Amino acid sequence: MSKLPGNAGVSVLGDKSLEFYRDPVSFCRQRIDKHRSRVFVSRLLNRPTVFICSVEAMRELLCEKSNQFLKDPTDLMTNVYGDTIVTTNGEEACLLRLSFTSLFTGTRLESSSDYITSVCERCLKDLSVRDQPQCGYSVFKHLGTELVLGLFLNVRAEEQPELFEEISQLCTTHWHGLISAPINLKGPLWSSGFSTALDARDKLMDIVKDKLQNDKEGFVGHLGSLPLPDSRAAAQHLLLFISALIPKALASLLTSFTLALSGNEKEETRRRAKEDPDFLHRVLLEVQRLWPPFIGGRRLADQDSTLAGFLVPKDYGVVYISHAIHRDPEVFQEPDSFLPDRWSGRNAGQEHFLCSFGNGPRNCIGPKLTNVFLKLIILPPVPRFFPPSIPPIHPAPPLHQGNLHS
Ligand code: HEM
Repeated sequence: MSKLPGNAGVSVLGDKSLEFYRDPVSFCRQRIDKHRSRVFVSRLLNRPTVFICSVEAMRELLCEKSNQFLKDPTDLMTNVYGDTIVTTNGEEACLLRLSFTSLFTGTRLESSSDYITSVCERCLKDLSVRDQPQCGYSVFKHLGTELVLGLFLNVRAEEQPELFEEISQLCTTHWHGLISAPINLKGPLWSSGFSTALDARDKLMDIVKDKLQNDKEGFVGHLGSLPLPDSRAAAQHLLLFISALIPKALASLLTSFTLALSGNEKEETRRRAKEDPDFLHRVLLEVQRLWPPFIGGRRLADQDSTLAGFLVPKDYGVVYISHAIHRDPEVFQEPDSFLPDRWSGRNAGQEHFLCSFGNGPRNCIGPKLTNVFLKLIILPPVPRFFPPSIPPIHPAPPLHQGNLHS
């Protein structure tokens, strides 16, 4: 058993959280080069933390040893969203996963496709014809918000524009609590970002509880009738599902897709993606490989253990970094190049080496729904939107910080 490369530093002064969150990609790249290892230790959230940047170690962490590396119940997500599936472990997590998975698969998904198509129709119709440059990310995020609030909360933007606007604003403010310092200060002239986020959460909870009580239709109706552990669980999970997380992730993937397929030199790639659904699938895999919307996920070592042959002591944090894992040259040749056909060649059948939606028994429960969203947005029954030939004026999509948690 070897000692982990890197240095966990001393408490507080040795903490590298700011440096990491400022630019997670360079943080990892520099250390991978320095330690000549894709697994190393540093200090994050003032805890010695192992950084996982290789496919093999990610699989060990999330699959084979998922019972030794657990979710952290005191995670920042709990501060902001309360107790949810995301930070629970053991039997309770299994039961919640079983209940929720049924909500996001099968016939429930199929019955949503008309609504999804109509929202896409309205939100995207101007995208390829407008002569003014537009911020693709904002258009896609608005679209994602309409989909999420319409499907999960029965609040449709065309029917209740004011309520829709109020909830979207509250969701954004609430989300900012996740990425601000968790200090609850409130005064007559100034309140901390975290305290404003908690106020937004209270208002959102009122709306969510009202919906759960009065709406018997759709997702809200089904959620209300699930056998959940306690009376607050349905409202807290609904709050999680309508949060800004999903619209942001969707907008990130769509922006990356647009950028990857834009420009005159991509004309042939666009033609193939339009005509061949298998090729479009490979393009989307390559988009999530190169530009995963979230940084990754975090676990705590529940006992002394090993990862990639290195000793990981009990109570160490472990984070997996999707961007670095997806560029592991052991698995992905020419890791920085956009090569959709790798998924029918050397990497055929290796989708399980990706972790943009997590991996193993605690992976995301939403990929099927996300796939339905993406396919209906990109290639609807009646063609409407496809990346234009002129690259849009837009910076690269951000890597969201929120999903170190989920
Ligand atoms: C582009 C869209 C999405 C991305 C990139 C994404 C990403 C992720 C990732 C990386 C995780 C694992 C976090 C970890 O390992 O700690 C996760 C977990 C989770 N996701 Fe998603 N997600 C997306 C959409 C959705 C949707 C549509 C839903 C459902 C409404 C959803 C619900 C969840 C839940 C409940 C978990 C926690 C599962 C557990 O802890 O057992 N996600 N997601």
